[in-house]
Formats: sequence, C-alpha cells, structure tokens
Amino acid sequence: MYTHGTLVTAMHGHLAFWGAYGMIVLAIISYTLPNMTGRKLYDSANGVLAFWLSNIGMIGMTTAFAAAGVAQVYMERIMGLEFGEVQKELQVHFIILVLCATLFTTGIGIFIYEFIRYGTPTDEALETKN
Ligand code: HEM
Ligand code: HEM
Repeated sequence: MYTHGTLVTAMHGHLAFWGAYGMIVLAIISYTLPNMTGRKLYDSANGVLAFWLSNIGMIGMTTAFAAAGVAQVYMERIMGLEFGEVQKELQVHFIILVLCATLFTTGIGIFIYEFIRYGTPTDEALETKN
C-alpha cells in the first residue's frame, strides 16, 4: 500500500535484474569466452576493473534509489505531498544516482571493450577446430 510503484520498487528492480540476469550473463561470458577463443585469459586487469566498477556502481545506484524511495514514501504516502513536489525534494538523490551510474556505465564499457578486443578466436583455436 505504501511502497507500490515508488523508487523502492526501482531499487528492487535494478538490484534484482543486475543480480539475477546481468551478472549471470556476464559470468557465463567471462568463463566461456577465454575457452572458446583459446586464450585462457581469465584475470585481465581490465576485467577486474570492470567487475568492481560495475558492482560498486550498481550498489551505489540502488542505495541512492533506496534512500530516495524511503523519503518518497514518507513524503508522498504518509504526509500526503504532491508527486511533483516530492520529486523536487528527491533531486539530490538523483545526482548521486547519476554519479554511481557513471561508475556502472564505465565498468560495463570496459567489459565491452575487452569483449571486442579478445572476443575473436586465436589462430591456434581455429586450427584445433578444423
Ligand atoms: C529475478 C528476480 C527478480 C527480478 C528481476 C525482479 C524485478 C522486478 C521489477 C523490474 C519490478 C518492477 C515492475 C514495475 O513496476 O515496472 C518488480 C516489482 C516487484 N517485485 Fe520483483 N523481481 C525479482 C524477484 C522478486 C522476488 C523474489 C520478490 C518477492 C519475494 C519480488 C517482489 C516484487 C514486488 C512485491 C514488486 C511490486 C512492487 C510494487 O508494488 O511496486 N520480486 N520486480
Ligand atoms: C546507467 C545505469 C542505469 C540508470 C541510471 C537507470 C535509471 C533508471 C531510472 C531513473 C528509472 C526510473 C525509476 C522510476 O522513476 O521509477 C529506471 C527504470 C528501470 N530500469 Fe534502470 N537504470 C540503469 C540501468 C538499468 C539496468 C542495467 C537494468 C536492467 C538490467 C535496468 C532496468 C530498469 C527497469 C526494469 C526499470 C523500470 C521498472 C522500475 O521502475 O523498477 N536499468 N532506471
């Protein structure tokens, strides 16, 4: 009754999507790609950086959503303020959200860079296949 469709939901949605689907896809890629390309390259410095930036970024984002959500529920659903008025009060949380989202996006960007850089099979791997 109090939290339906608020930023508390957005917090749950982001952490759940990231944890359940995002992370499993990236984990499967990180495990299989080095095998499929024949590079056996599991622990590149960029890979570690991508992991920490995206995870710290997402935890920061969802913490910002959580703080904003609790404040929103209180002001909108308990005190009865208008949606727009409450959104103005929540702007500071969105600034933090954007900062953390920048970390997240940087981490994902590095992952994609590594994916493109090392995603093609080595000559050796191609020969074994043939
Ligand atoms: C793979 C796991 C999950 C994912 C990806 C996920 C994702 C989401 C998303 C995106 C929403 C927002 C829907 C929207 O308003 O557009 C949502 C809402 C909700 N989820 Fe999940 N969820 C997961 C698991 C769970 C679990 C395990 C529970 C409870 C034990 C749960 C309880 C809820 C509830 C109650 C809402 C509605 C909140 C509201 O009233 O606004 N979810 N979920
Ligand atoms: C740069 C990273 C991201 C930013 C800044 C961001 C921001 C946002 C914002 C501000 C909303 C609207 C929340 C509201 O007003 O109720 C939203 C909704 C949503 N986002 Fe993201 N998001 C990001 C990444 C992602 C990712 C990676 C996923 C899924 C894997 C995702 C899934 C969703 C979903 C399902 C909704 C709609 C449901 C809800 O309200 O919970 N987002 N996002």
